[in-house]
Amino acid sequence: MTRRRRVYEGKAKVLFEGPEPGTLVQYFKDDATAFNGEKKSTVTGKGVLNNRISEHLMTKLSDIGIHNHFIRRLNMREQLIKEVDIIPVEVIVRNVAAGSICKRLGIAEGTPLPRTIVEYCFKSDELNDPIVSEEHITAFGWANPLELDDIMSQTLRVNDFLLGLFTAIGIRLIDFKLEFGRLYDGEEVQIILADEISPDNCRLWDATTDKKLDKDRFRRDLGGVEDAYQEVARRLGIMPESGPGDLKGSTAIQ
Ligand SMILES: Nc1ncnc2c1ncn2[C@@H]1O[C@H](COP(=O)(O)OP(=O)(O)O)[C@@H](O)[C@H]1O
Ligand SMILES: [Mg+2]
Repeated sequence: MTRRRRVYEGKAKVLFEGPEPGTLVQYFKDDATAFNGEKKSTVTGKGVLNNRISEHLMTKLSDIGIHNHFIRRLNMREQLIKEVDIIPVEVIVRNVAAGSICKRLGIAEGTPLPRTIVEYCFKSDELNDPIVSEEHITAFGWANPLELDDIMSQTLRVNDFLLGLFTAIGIRLIDFKLEFGRLYDGEEVQIILADEISPDNCRLWDATTDKKLDKDRFRRDLGGVEDAYQEVARRLGIMPESGPGDLKGSTAIQ
């Protein structure tokens, strides 16, 4: 097998050149990082679970007409995706206060927000992903006003859909982060959802106990990180058939 070209290595994933032009292979690592990479570890099986969970959610979103980069899963740790030009903005959707908004605005964690709040952060590890306004995004040309409207309306549809999906399996969707990119098709440019949707970038609380089933278990040393991700996969009905035994998957990156 020929060696694939590594296009990018991030904190949680590696991108390889795909088999056809305009495609990439997204490889999910077990690496876990928090506080902009200050805290680092590995969580066995996390990559396998996130690959599955993101596949499941992206496929469901496609089914309701929300275009995204997912093409198909290739194996335990890899999925084929459409290559996009990532818009350097993280779109954060908050239904309930948790994380940075609590510190910034002095709100107690778990306070339901009066309405869904969408925040934007500039994607920059060096700057610690600072929060920015629409003004910054359009002034610096990261996205134009039309694109931003499109991003906002897609984001709210994703939130509505995911809120329902998680409620049905006894999970509260507290907040999550999305990334979008430009897909070029001849003269046409389309903004589509990219990256991943998984317990790495969603806050998910058990609906009866408020137990955290997401990366906060890692951030706050609560233990049981892998179990929590498995619980989400199990409730979504996508635990790998052979059970936790095959979660390790292949760790080889060629
Ligand atoms: N479809 C796509 N095309 C191009 N780049 C993508 C696509 N989906 C996600 N990405 C980018 O790939 C990287 C994924 O790796 P990750 O480990 O999450 O990186 P990071 O540490 O930068 O968050 C991110 O920088 C993300 O913006
Ligand atoms: Mg990332």
